[in-house]
Amino acid sequence: MKIARRGELAPGKMKRVDHDGRRLLLANVDGKIHAADDTCTHEDASLSTGSLKGDIVKCPLHGSRFNLCTGQVLDDPAEENLRTYPVRVDGDDILVCLD
Ligand code: FES
Repeated sequence: MKIARRGELAPGKMKRVDHDGRRLLLANVDGKIHAADDTCTHEDASLSTGSLKGDIVKCPLHGSRFNLCTGQVLDDPAEENLRTYPVRVDGDDILVCLD
């Protein structure tokens, strides 16, 4: 499923994409695109407004961090891992498998 264009996402940047009722987070980690749910697993915060360091995203609300490669939660107060999605880049298109 085409979600965005690569040109919209510079290295080190994140972006929220609303698609089909889902809120997705796209992140460009050193040229590699990662996709995950944008909503923190703790409460209703948009991770795209948090900070990105390497492949770790930090929630803007209470500071839990998640690994964007695995979805693994790294700190309290969030306890559930973040759902991640496979990504393929085809030319300038960012394709995300949402199944
Ligand atoms: S809403 Fe993300 S850590 Fe609380």
